[in-house]
Amino acid sequence: MPIPEEFIRDLKMRCDIAEVISSYVNLKKAGHNLMGLCPFHNEKSPSFSVSPENGFFHCFGCGAGGDVITFIKRIENLDYVEAVKLLAQRAGMTVPDDDRSKGMSQLRSRIYEANREAARFYHKQLYTPEGREALEYLRKRQLTEKTIIHFGLGYSPKSRFELVNYLKSKGFSGTELIQANLANESKRGNPFDRFSDRVMFPIIDLRGNVIGFGGRIMSDIKPKYLNTSDTPVFNKSRNLFALQFAKNKADGQLILVEGYMDVIALHQAGFENAVATLGTALTQEQALTIKRYCDEVVICYDADEAGQKATARAISILRPTGLNIKILTVPSGKDPDEYIKSYGDQGAARFRMLLEKSGNDVEFRLQKLRSRYNTEITEQRVEFLTEAAKMIATLDNSIERDVYISKLSEELNVEKSAVKQQVSRYFKYNSREASKKEQREIQYRLSARDDRINTEKPNNLRAANAEEALIALLMKNADVAQNIFRILPPEKFITSFDRKVYETIKSRAEKGFDFTVTDISGEFSDEEMSRITKILVSHPRENDPQTAADDYIKVLEEEAEKMTEDEIARSDPETLMEQLRKMKEKKK
Ligand code: GTP
Ligand code: MN
Repeated sequence: MPIPEEFIRDLKMRCDIAEVISSYVNLKKAGHNLMGLCPFHNEKSPSFSVSPENGFFHCFGCGAGGDVITFIKRIENLDYVEAVKLLAQRAGMTVPDDDRSKGMSQLRSRIYEANREAARFYHKQLYTPEGREALEYLRKRQLTEKTIIHFGLGYSPKSRFELVNYLKSKGFSGTELIQANLANESKRGNPFDRFSDRVMFPIIDLRGNVIGFGGRIMSDIKPKYLNTSDTPVFNKSRNLFALQFAKNKADGQLILVEGYMDVIALHQAGFENAVATLGTALTQEQALTIKRYCDEVVICYDADEAGQKATARAISILRPTGLNIKILTVPSGKDPDEYIKSYGDQGAARFRMLLEKSGNDVEFRLQKLRSRYNTEITEQRVEFLTEAAKMIATLDNSIERDVYISKLSEELNVEKSAVKQQVSRYFKYNSREASKKEQREIQYRLSARDDRINTEKPNNLRAANAEEALIALLMKNADVAQNIFRILPPEKFITSFDRKVYETIKSRAEKGFDFTVTDISGEFSDEEMSRITKILVSHPRENDPQTAADDYIKVLEEEAEKMTEDEIARSDPETLMEQLRKMKEKKK
């Protein structure tokens, strides 16, 4: 543990978990706890609970859980040390320096530094003779000087060694540059520049770190764009281009476009709430991120077939988040950048009109559906109606359903009540299926057949249950715990995960440290922390903790004596006989 114990304790005292989480999740009071929609999975009814008293959060839906540090780690995609730093900043504290190895965390901060230097280097190149062509290119694409600076655009020189040599002169090692994916490794193991002769777009995260780059070629050579591959600080499926600007300008709405150039053109035209994915299709993580910064997203993808397919896909990913979705279709096959440019001075005003006209996703989907049928022909009309009713039945909001039922019945000149009946049949069917599915999932989780955290639990169910109950009891009753720590060695635990938890809290107690869930998060992964908080929330406080503890220990002893089938198969006859003798004695 690189950061002193006392510091972490102070930090947690100063960071009220409810307050921290409230800046990401809308929380409402529910008894002693606070409840809200889980930011780590899609849900419509709140199952995410925060316990200010105990300093932890837990989601009953997806099982995520932990203390305030775990929360920040997960939501901001940081490692432990970085999460501590972020919280410290918030609380106005300075994390004490520690020169013991920080491993990953150190590498990450080196990569941030290398990326920042690289971005500066690329930007400066624009103003050298070699970068002249790139600067001309950006100007030809009507980017102003201000925009070029605002986005920190740049140019990567042709020679494959300029950046590498420059960064080496700044003290970065070849390995660091390869890890940052600023350089590739030659067959001989030497680093050479990854980006060569491209216009460079730095990708910046919400805290202002340069995490990666997109590089566009200025000719027709493929690939058109080359992006940073995933690195310890860069994850394509998590980040969004220009979100660091857009989040402050969102005012309830973000515009989602396909390309870097589209984002830049929109920002220049005054639509500073535009973001783009990083050359990949929209992911669920990105959808949840978008949801954190707005209530409404306008999808503005290319009008071509690929763009329309991507739109349908994005809708299916965004819908479950509960975001209001609008679709903006740019006419005559242009992308937003081309559209704005084609109207010169009027570009922004024209785009504003499109934005105001943009319909919602239900209209988009109905229209697409309709284009597949010839509604003049009765049979096809019925087919369309059936499919449309199915689609409308997937809408959660009853007012919304009613609006489209009316529209559809008017449009096709059929009785509203007939359409309504049809929709309501599918709606009931969907609800039944959904609740069946939920039941199955709950069953599955309860059966714990697939336990990735405590892999030994399924084969040692009784022991693991007793261990978990004991862990919860110890963490909630410090006085009883002190007795137990003295008499119960960790070896008595049967499953190794529970043993590790026990060892951790026991050894903390022996050093005089606290051992509640908020004190141990540095030693467990996020998933493990989720399990520990789950153990805590699923075991109510015991009335007589000492007696209960004795009972659990007894269960552990009994279970230890039982041999698993495996062990019986493997053991030699003598120990087997001994075991059988013991079991018989017990029965008497
Ligand atoms: P311009 O052609 O310069 O206007 O760029 P654009 O952003 O309009 O490009 P386009 O619509 O073709 O692509 C949209 C986005 O997809 C780009 O911004 C990139 O993120 C990504 N992309 C496009 N081409 C490639 C490619 O060849 N490789 C990779 N990895 N990503 C690409
Ligand atoms: Mn374009």
